[in-house]
Amino acid sequence: MFNRILILIWLIIRIQQNSAVLPSYVHVHTPAEIMEINYVVLHQLSLCEDSQYAASQLFIAIKSAVNNLNQRQLVRQTWLPEVIRYRIPYVFMLGSTNDEELLEKLLAENRNYHDLIIGKFVDDYYNLTLKSIFTVTWASVHCSSRWLLYVDDDAIINIRNIIRFYNNKKDVLNLNIFCKKGVRQVHREIQSKWYIPQSVWLEERFPEFCYGWSYLIPSDVLSVLSSALISNTTTPKLWLEDVFVTGIATKAANIKIVSAGFVCCQVRSTRLFKENMVLGQMGKDKEFLESWKAVQKKSALAKKSESHHPVIRSGGSIFQKKGLLMSRPIENHARLRNFIQSMNGMNSRNRAYFWILKKVALKSRSV
Ligand SMILES: *[C@@H]1O[C@H](CO)[C@@H](O)[C@H](O)[C@H]1NC(C)=O
Ligand SMILES: *[C@@H]1O[C@H](CO)[C@@H](O)[C@H](O)[C@H]1NC(C)=O
Repeated sequence: MFNRILILIWLIIRIQQNSAVLPSYVHVHTPAEIMEINYVVLHQLSLCEDSQYAASQLFIAIKSAVNNLNQRQLVRQTWLPEVIRYRIPYVFMLGSTNDEELLEKLLAENRNYHDLIIGKFVDDYYNLTLKSIFTVTWASVHCSSRWLLYVDDDAIINIRNIIRFYNNKKDVLNLNIFCKKGVRQVHREIQSKWYIPQSVWLEERFPEFCYGWSYLIPSDVLSVLSSALISNTTTPKLWLEDVFVTGIATKAANIKIVSAGFVCCQVRSTRLFKENMVLGQMGKDKEFLESWKAVQKKSALAKKSESHHPVIRSGGSIFQKKGLLMSRPIENHARLRNFIQSMNGMNSRNRAYFWILKKVALKSRSV
């Protein structure tokens, strides 16, 4: 009798959970929405067949929003030139918009650069899962023999490290994808931006996933992942893009996710650009440009410090000689210390240089 009551209560709770109307932002994509990925508004059909890209084993898809015209321009001016020099095909992946004026602008942008693909799904933050399914599927159909680097438009990449990475990995793949691996607790507070009720996902955790700002997918994984993403049996098709695409779908397809050379979210040390491949979430617009400049300086410094070990000579203007950042000569350690102290109120871009100065100061003190 007692058991029956318990079961009844449990049933009532379950029915209430399932019939509760979900807040509009808790979105599970319907089959009809998934079907949208079969349609394209603007194509680059034969991009990967272009003879200038014949030797490339990589295809880069940059996730960008329709409104991010300025950000795309910055990417074209910062890390894309080197990608183009290496003859690696790339595109920006967008969804469509009902704003005709904006669509006109996008078409004009594409007439200049020939580097936009626009899917039919509506471009929206809550549709990022559709964008990723679209991208992986597009790549597996049109660039099937290449690795796919999927990356946000506010990330900075080191293309040489990426090439070195996949050249070394060729023989040892076994259905891996590479990224910064994470785990995520399910948010059960209804006010949370990431709220997911038990009726949608029962367990307290999601499967391990890749942070969505970038992942690198080997060619042998592309079609396997693409099938898993669109399969009706891979559910729920959560709007949480990184969780669904790189967690739920990879688990369904027995694809392993592996951490490798992906870091975020700020420019921290000179080691940053030695072996890393992607720096995620580096800011938009002006902030992105600042990050880019800092990374450039740091990678130049990293290269220099491989060959020279700077020491302070008396009356030394060694920093200037090495092309480092000092704009005034440093005569002795006391002045160096004063200088470091004077830099305490500096902005974040300069803080990196402060670190180098401190290192040199410590070294010279122990000599
Ligand atoms: C997502 O895309 C689908 C398909 O285009 C569309 O019906 C839906 O309104 C979009 N959702 C949002 C939140 O924009
Ligand atoms: C998945 O579901 C949709 C809509 O119900 C259907 O049209 C489609 O054929 C299904 N796909 C598979 C592979 O069963």
